Amino acid sequence: MLVVLSTYLGVFLRKLLVTGGAGFIGSNFVHYVLENTDDHVTVLDKLTYAGNRASLAGLPAERFTFVHGDIANPELVDSLVGNADVIVHYAAESHNDNSLHDPRPFLDTNVIGTFTLLEAARRHDVRFHHISTDEVYGDLELDDPARFTEQTPYNPSSPYSSTKAASDLLVRAWVRSFGVKATISNCSNNYGPYQHVEKFIPRQITNVLTGERPKLYGAGENVRDWIHANDHSSAVLTIIEKGVIGETYLIGADGEKNNKEVVELILTELGQESDAYDHVIDRPGHDMRYAIDSTKLRTELGWEPRFSDFESGLASTIQWYKDNEAWWAPQKAATEAKYVEQGQ
Ligand code: NAD
Ligand code: DAU
Repeated sequence: MLVVLSTYLGVFLRKLLVTGGAGFIGSNFVHYVLENTDDHVTVLDKLTYAGNRASLAGLPAERFTFVHGDIANPELVDSLVGNADVIVHYAAESHNDNSLHDPRPFLDTNVIGTFTLLEAARRHDVRFHHISTDEVYGDLELDDPARFTEQTPYNPSSPYSSTKAASDLLVRAWVRSFGVKATISNCSNNYGPYQHVEKFIPRQITNVLTGERPKLYGAGENVRDWIHANDHSSAVLTIIEKGVIGETYLIGADGEKNNKEVVELILTELGQESDAYDHVIDRPGHDMRYAIDSTKLRTELGWEPRFSDFESGLASTIQWYKDNEAWWAPQKAATEAKYVEQGQ
């Protein structure tokens, strides 16, 4: 009734259920939606090591609810989905290195958790948007002129990316077999504030800030296609509002850079010699290059990224880590201890 009335008045008021909203990209989306729409957001998050309640500070209490729980809990999920207009599914175990040492939580959350949400979406006929990754497509050679498109065959390399691929295929099957109203987006590497210090860019920034040297896996020639998290959030909102049910959209901002270049930029921005880094043991099965062709999203839905200058986006991200040590410092020592154990 409220939705009908608010639509009639020209004001959107949807009830979004955002899974994984205390993580890096999910929390960015929650802030983005509350700033740019009149929607209500309920976050469902298990608060694993990667979830941080502090990333959701300062939100308007009348438009925001936090629920601490597991997406693989069918009763809890059913009760929340029954009260939502749209599920935006970010929750995942997200780190490749962790998946190589302990794959089990990746199956539990990324596969069984997604299945649990899909079943609830089916029962309650609720719109579902699934957040996925370009890693489902495997990798490209450095000199390959091709980029990933929606037609690229799936070829995941790691336990993480194979569980994300499995979850994408579940979504497609639930659309075709049960008529679930779902869309999927596959995005490239995100950067920005509130990213866990285990990930590449925050690890190197906080290494320099704590007097450690940045650590490059192998030769550092692997390429990632960087996009600011705010641009990922605007793309997801565009797909929720204008996307065609059953379709997949690739999200990317033409930000290819190799890891060595990124480390050198971080060191220079922080006033260090650009070669003041160490090479460490490479990641097993390390994907060489990701590159996204986001023509479909741009031409069919009219989306454009706003952060086209990686260097200035990186500089403001570095400034955020300088200003917010209280947010990342509690995780830093344990994260580095784990990397040292792995020789990385
Ligand atoms: P993250 O690790 O920072 O956050 C994951 C969040 O999910 C955390 O808040 C965690 O507590 C929560 N969570 C984990 N297991 C859960 C469970 N069983 N039930 C409820 N909550 C649970 O991850 P991120 O980098 O923000 O990634 C979010 C999503 O975006 C993931 O689906 C990931 O595959 C996808 N993605 C990430 C990137 C990237 O560059 N980080 C790029 C493309 C796609
Ligand atoms: O492409 C999207 C994916 O990007 C997401 O699906 C994942 O959730 C996200 O974690 C990210 O995966 P990557 O494995 O690309 O990100 P990560 O930050 O772990 O590493 C980026 C690159 O940097 C990769 O080539 C490995 C390298 N690396 C990483 C770390 C942590 C280093 O050289 N040194 C490091 O210390």
